[in-house]
Amino acid sequence: MTITRPSTVAAPHFSVISGAQVQQALEGKEQPIVELVEAAYRLHSAGASVNPDSYFLRFPDRPSDRIIALPASLGGETRVNGLKWISSFPHNVEAGLPRASAVLILNDCDTGYPFACLEASIISATRTAALAASAADWLSRDRGRPARVGFIGVGLIARYIHTFLRGTGWAFDEIGVHDTSTDSAAGFCAYLERTGCSGPITVHDRPEDLIRSSDLVVFATVAGEPHVHDVSWFDHNPVVLHVSLRDLSPDIVLASTNIVDDVDHCMKANTSPHLAEQRTGNRDFVAGTLDDVMAGRVRPPADRPVVFSPFGLGVLDLAVGKYVYDEVARAGELQVVDGFFHELRRYG
Ligand SMILES: NC(=O)c1ccc[n+]([C@@H]2O[C@H](COP(=O)([O-])OP(=O)(O)OC[C@H]3O[C@@H](n4cnc5c(N)ncnc54)[C@H](O)[C@@H]3O)[C@@H](O)[C@H]2O)c1
Repeated sequence: MTITRPSTVAAPHFSVISGAQVQQALEGKEQPIVELVEAAYRLHSAGASVNPDSYFLRFPDRPSDRIIALPASLGGETRVNGLKWISSFPHNVEAGLPRASAVLILNDCDTGYPFACLEASIISATRTAALAASAADWLSRDRGRPARVGFIGVGLIARYIHTFLRGTGWAFDEIGVHDTSTDSAAGFCAYLERTGCSGPITVHDRPEDLIRSSDLVVFATVAGEPHVHDVSWFDHNPVVLHVSLRDLSPDIVLASTNIVDDVDHCMKANTSPHLAEQRTGNRDFVAGTLDDVMAGRVRPPADRPVVFSPFGLGVLDLAVGKYVYDEVARAGELQVVDGFFHELRRYG
């Protein structure tokens, strides 16, 4: 590929986009955002992206905390580079703060200059929920749309996934809730009630009861290692959105049809598929990617559980972040930091 460099470039400027602006740009746009995220995901799957491994900063004295860097470059019409830098400090929740906090830096493709810093916890939750809603749709096409949903681990990500399912036309006869924290379960139920859910909401004390009574099971816990081991809990062949990636034992993974977002990415960082790979020494248990399902190359059979494990791709953050940037710019509401780039003449 030949890169044509412009002979003159506009003076670079840099904007800061707050969480309030991000939320305003995305609110109520669930269907178009699912389409945007699917388009970016398809581009990635077609090779029109650069999405290196996520880089994990961990702390020997605080094993539950981490900060992850996700650099990426998205091609196609969007054409943007950037980096999401996202912290996960699960104990924040006890202090009344969300677990995750993040920024997204967008870089110009021609000059490399960063041109925006966006609050990105909302962007990250949005792209995660959008791809989860997309997977729920594609993976249930041959087995009938689930009417009973169960959420295991009900923090911010579970709330966004419910919002995206609802905003893309899903309605449920029953909603099950399970969390190791009664406060989280109560908070999520209060959120569900505010959304005007019509069917019954049941809080299950045991994950087994929730799984057995749900056709769509959403895992959004912060479990660091598998806590669900019994294959028989999945005898009714549910669709499982394994968003938190480390809940299921290798036995359950191996007894299911496994769909991932990106095979190489998913076989890392001790996710449940990674544990299954370590156990078996191969990746034969992975039926394919969500892109394979979208393109009709893989059709998950209805007589097995189907587990979607999305590692989470930086290119999807870029797609949503650039959409937000463009919306804020179009509204004339960019908060440009005057003089951010200062040394612009090479010899002074
Ligand atoms: N795959 C992706 O692309 C992606 C993207 C974003 C977040 N995530 C993951 O989603 C998960 C949830 O994130 P969040 O921001 O909602 O976190 P959160 O802290 O707000 O909520 C997590 C909830 O899980 C509960 N929990 C912990 N262990 C549990 C267990 N064994 N059984 C039942 N409940 C349990 C906690 O009590 C808490 O209420 C995290 O693991 C995060 O890494 C994945």
